[in-house]
Amino acid sequence: MGKALDGVRILDFTHVQSGPTCTQLLAWFGADVIKVERAGAGDITREQLRDIPDVDSLYFTMLNHNKRSVTIDTKNPEGKLVLEALIQKCDVLVENFAPGALDRMGFTWERIQELNPRMIVASVKGFGPGPYEDCKVYENVAQCAGGAASTTGFDDGPPVVTGAQIGDSGTGLHLALGIVTALYQRTQSGRGQRVLAAMQDGVLNLCRVKLRDQQRLDRTGTMKEYPQYPNGTFGEAVPRAGNASGGGQPGWILKCKGWETDPNAYIYFITQAPVWAKICNVIGKEEWATDPDYATPAARLPHLKEIFAEIERWTMTKTKFEAMQILNKYDIPCGPILSMKEIAEEPSLRKTGTIVEVDHPMRGKYLTVGNPIKLSDSPTDVTRSPLLGEHTDEVMAELGYSPEQISALRTAGAI
Ligand SMILES: CC(C)(COP(=O)(O)OP(=O)(O)OC[C@H]1O[C@@H](n2cnc3c(N)ncnc32)[C@H](O)[C@@H]1OP(=O)(O)O)[C@@H](O)C(=O)NCCC(=O)NCCS
Repeated sequence: MGKALDGVRILDFTHVQSGPTCTQLLAWFGADVIKVERAGAGDITREQLRDIPDVDSLYFTMLNHNKRSVTIDTKNPEGKLVLEALIQKCDVLVENFAPGALDRMGFTWERIQELNPRMIVASVKGFGPGPYEDCKVYENVAQCAGGAASTTGFDDGPPVVTGAQIGDSGTGLHLALGIVTALYQRTQSGRGQRVLAAMQDGVLNLCRVKLRDQQRLDRTGTMKEYPQYPNGTFGEAVPRAGNASGGGQPGWILKCKGWETDPNAYIYFITQAPVWAKICNVIGKEEWATDPDYATPAARLPHLKEIFAEIERWTMTKTKFEAMQILNKYDIPCGPILSMKEIAEEPSLRKTGTIVEVDHPMRGKYLTVGNPIKLSDSPTDVTRSPLLGEHTDEVMAELGYSPEQISALRTAGAI
């Protein structure tokens, strides 16, 4: 079966996490992704957080599946010519270097346009134009600058970053959408264009509901679904809401059986309004279904703490999976707090290809997250990440270089 992006060639000039997640997705959709790495060294993540000496790290392998790797010294004049040949052959150049690095290499937008007017140049940067545009940025910097950290955590504690890589992988996702959109526009315009996804913008886009809340707070001075209501205080900015739901249906994380020893024996419980009567029945508080102090969502808001404490008395008598089973029977929205160990062992995720076992010639078998986006006509086969420079000769030959030329370029240190 063909793939959605068959025939699209990507010059993947990305490193670390944000760019590689983007090009990995494009590879999974069928694009030919040619990763250009620094001759001799490669993407710095190859050697970061290694669990096996001298073997590409899981950090690298899990972000670079289905790609080819070529090594080019793009600061060497002959290496530059090889990169130019690649620019002429590819549809998209994706990069996430520090601001200005591509220009300093001599590959300005204007130069790339001269070489290939159909080329789409897609970049991840930490910030868009403005006071911080020249800054180097990593994941947690973006989480802090994009509004996630100030709104995550508990009221009485410091700002907290989340384990979900919303700055890196989140921005990679945004960039991938920008790229396929630009490819679509090119079918009409015949021209390439620049695509920019700034990490601050990507995080803020994912924190959209918090900017909603800032304006609600400015207008009314309170937000009744936040744990600060009715007893705490609100300041000028959106406070940290603990585990409160970000939407209109109050929720909280509750202890389940075994919580004393298992750090993940918890369940997320949502007191969705349409199933309130069923919740009351399940926890044995039938009277709350009709009591005017509890019967309506508005009446419940000042009592949320007490309500969740009562529900927790019930969840603590069940394991998180038993609670799920019972609550699902009544369509009560809830979710177990799953550990990474539980997720890795979950058979249904293996079945759908969301968790995949991949074989690697140097590290053997390892688990990875497959393509989370499923296309019915473009299935994803996850193949291992390339070794450093594994495809240099192959790609050079496709660019028209003879074995003698390849060997001369290698001697010159250009590849
Ligand atoms: C992630 C980041 C902080 C890493 O910074 P860094 O390790 O110092 O790397 P840089 O991006 O500055 O690039 C390093 C240099 O390698 C050079 N380089 C990269 N590939 C090369 C190659 N194949 N041949 C020769 N030189 C190469 C670049 O030209 C640059 O040189 P310069 O500084 O002389 O211009 C930075 O790239 C960045 O801010 N990126 C944008 C935001 C981003 O994506 N952050 C998330 C990362 S997960």
